Amino acid sequence: MESLLTEIDHVAIAVNDLDAAIAWYEEVFGATVEHRESVESDGVAEALLRVADSYIQLLTPTRADSPVAKYLEKKGEGLHHVGYRVANCAAALDAVKAAGGRVIDDAPRPGSRGTIVAFVHPKTSFGTLIELVEDPSRA
Ligand code: CO
Repeated sequence: MESLLTEIDHVAIAVNDLDAAIAWYEEVFGATVEHRESVESDGVAEALLRVADSYIQLLTPTRADSPVAKYLEKKGEGLHHVGYRVANCAAALDAVKAAGGRVIDDAPRPGSRGTIVAFVHPKTSFGTLIELVEDPSRA
């Protein structure tokens, strides 16, 4: 069968200081921020820097009880999750469930920049938190 994963959408990196991380990518690599957004329901602020047709997503918590704040406390800065682009988030999520996998989001939900997303539990996906990203603007 054809892969349900069509591209890497983004690689997400948790940082303590979003502005410092953005400045580093800009100054060292000449990268530019294409999108910034705070997702209040997730308690995160993000900046997307384009790399070819994918993004580096720099993530920082906006409140102490956000999952990213807990992650930084426990593990420190670093790779947080990988976002795979999929044509249909619900179908990809169902494939994980059908294979007996553990999911964080039981159903697709709104992500940043108008995407539809669902997270797969890292216990299922060999230690990496996976985000399934459907981007209706690409359809
Ligand atoms: Co993400």
